[in-house]
Amino acid sequence: MKSSEVREKFLKFFESKGHKLLPSAPLVPQDDPTLLWINAGMAPFKDYFNGSAIPPKRRVSTSQKCIRTNDIENVGKTARHHTFFEMLGNFSFGDYFKEDAINWAYEFLTEWMNFDPDKFWVSIYKDDDEAFEIWTKQVGFPKERIVRMDKDENFWEIGTGPCGPCSEIHYDRGVDYGCSDDCELGCDCDRYLEIWNLVFTQYNKTEDGEYLELPNKNIDTGMGLERIVSLLQDAPTNFETDLFMPMINYIADNADVKYGDSKETDMALKVIADHIRSISFAIADGALPSNEGRGYVVRRILRRAVRYAKVLGLEIPFLHTIVPIVVEVMGDHYSQLVDMEEQIKKIVKQEEIRFEETLEQGMDILEEVIAELKKKDAKVIPGDKVFTLYDTYGFPKELTEEIAGEQGYEIDHAGFEKSMEEQRNRARAARQDYDQGHSELELYKAIREELGQDDFVGYEEFEVETEVLSLVKDQQKVEEVAVGDKAQVILAKTPFYSEGGGQAGDQGIIINTNAQLRVVDTREIAEMTVHEVEIEEGELKVNDQVQAIVSGELRTATARHHTATHLLHKALKEFLGEHVNQAGSLVTPTRLRFDFSHFEAIKEEELEKIEARVNEQILANLVVDAREMPIKEAKELGAMALFGEKYGEEVRVVTAGDYSIELCGGTHVRATGEIGLFKILNESGIAAGVRRIEAVTGHEALDYVKKQEDTIRTIADKLKSSPKEVVTKVDSLQSQIKELEKELTSLKDKLASSQSGDLISEAEELNGIKTILHSIDGIDADGLRKMGDNLKDKLDSGIVVLASKLDGKVIFIAIVTKDLVKAGYHAGNIIREVAKVAGGGGGGRPDMAQAGGSKPDKIEEALAKAKELILAE
Ligand code: ALA
Repeated sequence: MKSSEVREKFLKFFESKGHKLLPSAPLVPQDDPTLLWINAGMAPFKDYFNGSAIPPKRRVSTSQKCIRTNDIENVGKTARHHTFFEMLGNFSFGDYFKEDAINWAYEFLTEWMNFDPDKFWVSIYKDDDEAFEIWTKQVGFPKERIVRMDKDENFWEIGTGPCGPCSEIHYDRGVDYGCSDDCELGCDCDRYLEIWNLVFTQYNKTEDGEYLELPNKNIDTGMGLERIVSLLQDAPTNFETDLFMPMINYIADNADVKYGDSKETDMALKVIADHIRSISFAIADGALPSNEGRGYVVRRILRRAVRYAKVLGLEIPFLHTIVPIVVEVMGDHYSQLVDMEEQIKKIVKQEEIRFEETLEQGMDILEEVIAELKKKDAKVIPGDKVFTLYDTYGFPKELTEEIAGEQGYEIDHAGFEKSMEEQRNRARAARQDYDQGHSELELYKAIREELGQDDFVGYEEFEVETEVLSLVKDQQKVEEVAVGDKAQVILAKTPFYSEGGGQAGDQGIIINTNAQLRVVDTREIAEMTVHEVEIEEGELKVNDQVQAIVSGELRTATARHHTATHLLHKALKEFLGEHVNQAGSLVTPTRLRFDFSHFEAIKEEELEKIEARVNEQILANLVVDAREMPIKEAKELGAMALFGEKYGEEVRVVTAGDYSIELCGGTHVRATGEIGLFKILNESGIAAGVRRIEAVTGHEALDYVKKQEDTIRTIADKLKSSPKEVVTKVDSLQSQIKELEKELTSLKDKLASSQSGDLISEAEELNGIKTILHSIDGIDADGLRKMGDNLKDKLDSGIVVLASKLDGKVIFIAIVTKDLVKAGYHAGNIIREVAKVAGGGGGGRPDMAQAGGSKPDKIEEALAKAKELILAE
């Protein structure tokens, strides 16, 4: 059975049991600061389990993309470690519980997958008698193959959040796969393969380690697609299946090896096949290689793959050529991969090339370190150096060790570990910031549960009369705040737009007769609008009536930039192609910054056209409209959705005439004419495959134009011209400069030739050789060479040494005619000695050489040295 069939059957089976099938959530978690990657089927559903959000249906089923990198060094070594895998799961949010979960799992495996029931083993949590009864009495599963296990085996949790006891289904592959004849369930070897984990999710683990009963009993199950496919295809490991073999074969062909040839090459093939899947899916979901967070994980995986490609002797860049095969294998279920294929390829290729470059830099550094050690007669490369190579240049420790080993050096493992630990501490500190965000989230969730949802009315209104619902100071709920405090305010109703979708949060004031608060920012936390305030006067209490007033000027300026961003997005697609997708956006009252996928710098003419198109749409004064509608309808209308975003069933669609239609929660102008003017300030690259445009609108655009005008006027004034004529003036100045340069050259020629005439008569005989030793002021190297050539032409046979004092330094040239070169005189050797006297150095050919010196007062002495040398020959 093919892997795609297994996936399809699983989903069909649970659909037949009344489940709603949902698409896999993006790998990049949405609104979950506690997770770097989606790492289990249940991860996108945490809020459904803990009751803080309402699921579209109480039973759902998915095939979820997951990334886990904690065991990355095992990938390729073992039969079943992966960085990317798919988890098949069925979920109940307070609907069915153990009975159905167990019965259905068994039914699917035995009736839909036709596994031999005698091969199964089951583990349950040690005192879960209920599960034991269901397995034995309802399913009729033999007691002898049910094992009770401890919390570390049969209680499922990852960090904080929903968790509970579980029952796992294992498949006995037979004694041939075992580590010994009598190994048992629970052994780490490949004999008993855990295939399905049924979690009876009934607790919520808090940050303090407490297990709180959830309001409902839930089900969360997970079956690794790769594992079950390996069983169905009778493959010894997950790799010899149709999920990996197309990649493995392709890589092997290119490397001219065969899968199965050797342990070393097999490992490389598996690593690359595994890693290219993670990389492709991560990029498709918007995680681009970088030096931070998720981006760094992508980078690390990719570099590990490059290293193994090198083990196979493949020439880099290579990995990007495997992407089409990943798309072929997985694309029919994950259409994102198909849409993003070209982009993924380009990003992977650029990243490979970039690593090649750092690889070389790293090599240089390593060689320097080794040279240093050699001087000191030391043999061990310090741990911090190994760490720098690892951390900054992506140099795996093993690679450093290998290269060092070849030259008879070792690396300081303990020192490396120490640097690693220091970095981990830094990461831990960073995570504490993260945790702070998390506890803020908890606080506002609790406030919302207690006081109910607030109401955002800012699309229609700038100013409302409302009530203070809650006050927060220093992360604590308080009853009252007073002048001088910095605090957070929740209002029953608010016109303030909270930072989101790239749009900056509103600013303004909150007032009543007792107090005046300045709102410096507005953020959304746990779906509540949180006003960050500074209390400027008086005091404010919970339940007070207030007037909440958004700064209309700033709001309108922001709206101009936001609507312009939509027009720009559309114009970019129009001129550069449909592959352009938003990768980031910032909209403030003073500017907009739009990041998008595209692979090369945009040409000046193209940029001009894009700017002109946006301004055309502004002049057309298109009506801007916002409407709520079901997501399906929005997609049918062709709304541009942002990839990787999670949308609810109802979405807000913003249109500008027929030109732009986009899903967006932001605030906009009423008609594009209000934008006034759109000016692009800058276009640049910010990461592989990502470009950035910065632009301004409205008053800011006018200010910008005004500043440009001022600059031109200043230039014109300095050139004693007018803005209109300034270009002609610059042109004529440039040709004047060219004329002057020509004139200067010809004057130098003339000077050289006239001076050389005089010098010929100065020639003296040394050792029977006609010699000219002369010093002149203010001639550059070029002029000096010309003079030398001139003299050489005039002398049949002889030696010339000239010195010139210029800008506080000295230049020397030496010329020896051919016959004297043959006789053993060498201009290069002469000049070296001569320049040394004047504090310099240099050398050159036997017939002509040039050098510099820093001590013009030594010119006479230097020329005397020349005389000495010639006489000494
Ligand atoms: N959440 C459970 C797991 O990841 C099903 O194993």
